[in-house]
Amino acid sequence: MQCLREGKLTLILANFAVLHARKGLALGMSELPSRPRHFASDNYSGICPEAWTALKEANRGHDVSCGNGAWTQKASDLLRDVFKTDCEVFFVFNGTAANSPSLASLSQSYHSVLCHELAHIETAECGAPEFFANGSKILLLPGANGKVPTTDVLHAVLKRSDIHCPKPRMLSLTQATEVGTVYSIAEFHPLNETAQRLGLKVHMDGARFANAVAALDVTP
Ligand SMILES: Cc1ncc(COP(=O)(O)O)c(C=O)c1O
Repeated sequence: MQCLREGKLTLILANFAVLHARKGLALGMSELPSRPRHFASDNYSGICPEAWTALKEANRGHDVSCGNGAWTQKASDLLRDVFKTDCEVFFVFNGTAANSPSLASLSQSYHSVLCHELAHIETAECGAPEFFANGSKILLLPGANGKVPTTDVLHAVLKRSDIHCPKPRMLSLTQATEVGTVYSIAEFHPLNETAQRLGLKVHMDGARFANAVAALDVTP
């Protein structure tokens, strides 16, 4: 799940349940040996029973396609309700397919996107976000525990402003991070405020967002 801040929140939802449903069908759930639980990504787990039941229900009969059907409307409304905001919702196939248009929607070829050096958009998406974001450059920031420090964001943005340097446009944060840590609300606010002050849009890679919400015991 990816979020962009630009007046209106945009949600680009990856995977949804279909991928897991296909996986379950191909293998036959009863044939799977019991395995340790993984929290690395939402696509490590099988589909939850509630979503599986809802998918089966949605699979009955016919409905209008291309996002105009009642099911898409209902799912989008539920997401707006969960996030308590009047956002646009786009369903895409996977996380890379969510990150790429998220970055592309706000970046031009002369822009840069700041993120932690371990961020998935840098280390595991084979250059797709940069490709689709018209060649925007990803600028890497170090930081303990997989988190981007606010001071490093400031430094990275302010150190150059000449015509030869891509203009910082976006701060991409991963919640929960690539090393399993979670930005607390107190850590997130200064990052968000600094980004706003510097004119950066904030993108959140939320492949593990639900885990972060549960760990922090907050609402989205
Ligand atoms: C933080 C993060 N972002 C994005 C992704 C997207 O992954 P995929 O394109 O494999 O769905 C993953 C997958 O593990 C991830 O961990």
